[in-house]
Amino acid sequence: MSTAGEVRSYRDTFLPYWHPVAYAHELREGPLAARLLETELVLWRTASGVAATQRYCAHRGADLSAGTVTPQGLRCAFHGWTYAQSGSCVRIPSQPQTPVPERARVNSYLAAQRHGLIWVCLSPEPAAPLPEWPELADSATVATVPLPRLDWETSAGRMVEIVLDVAHLSFVHEGTFGNPEQPEVPAYDVEKRSDGLRAQIVYPALAPAVGSAPPRVDRTTLTYEVTFPFTARLTFKPTLFYPHTVYAVASPWSEEKMQCFYFASYHPRIRNFAELFVKSESAILEQDRRVAEGQRPRAHPLDFSGEVPVKADRLPIEYRRALAALRLGRPPDAPAWD
Ligand code: FES
Ligand SMILES: [Fe+2]
Repeated sequence: MSTAGEVRSYRDTFLPYWHPVAYAHELREGPLAARLLETELVLWRTASGVAATQRYCAHRGADLSAGTVTPQGLRCAFHGWTYAQSGSCVRIPSQPQTPVPERARVNSYLAAQRHGLIWVCLSPEPAAPLPEWPELADSATVATVPLPRLDWETSAGRMVEIVLDVAHLSFVHEGTFGNPEQPEVPAYDVEKRSDGLRAQIVYPALAPAVGSAPPRVDRTTLTYEVTFPFTARLTFKPTLFYPHTVYAVASPWSEEKMQCFYFASYHPRIRNFAELFVKSESAILEQDRRVAEGQRPRAHPLDFSGEVPVKADRLPIEYRRALAALRLGRPPDAPAWD
């Protein structure tokens, strides 16, 4: 399998999508530095929502994330130039009577707060809407718990692939929930959609031993839903543990580096869920991190010419095929390979 046609650059391909750049709770009253696709950003809250602009001041290149949020906009700490959400400079304190030069502006980008995250789109015309997760809308029936950002030395595509990888569960996750006795992956279908993928498997997870009781097999129904390019939602329906949903949204800093926003939703009546989830999921993800950071190349390959995919890898294969199609400027459900 090899790609055919003109491959677009990584940045150009993924620039028109919404990506998360911070958890909403990280953006407080002051500005916050962020990074996306090799673009340095500063975020701040406005009366009507969230603003995202280039991080460095047009005047003398000072770091606007060290500035102050004012009713007029973001004020630079160096000479007080103030920028509106549009990126235009609206105030130059050193010469208030003189018109603001036309070039006194910073690039501004689309920004939105949704699902507990701050999202940015670097293109004025997003290629796809934000993911729809209606179950998160009602805080009476759902609670969420975020993990600290996953700051891994890998690409966003590799990250999503490891989340979608069924065959690694019995190997990498031994000691957390993996069942080393059951490494075989049963055949499963992958539903291809224009904006994502869906698959379901039943995994015989091993619930950890409690006291002197031996570990118990917990047949867990796992539903994987991908929204292109870098979002995965996993619904866990165990028989022994609480049902919950995990959201993994990888955010590309560059072709070889990402951060992942990872959180779970659960029924708010489950009192100890958040504590248990953070503890167990952090241990699980640490197992994944060691594998993911060791993979080469770090960049998400466009095909399998350097790897050997097998049938059990079906979901990551379909995901890679879709991302390769995007790199070729085709719809993600179009064939990407000869
Ligand atoms: S460098 Fe920002 S106001 Fe001068
Ligand atoms: Fe894993």
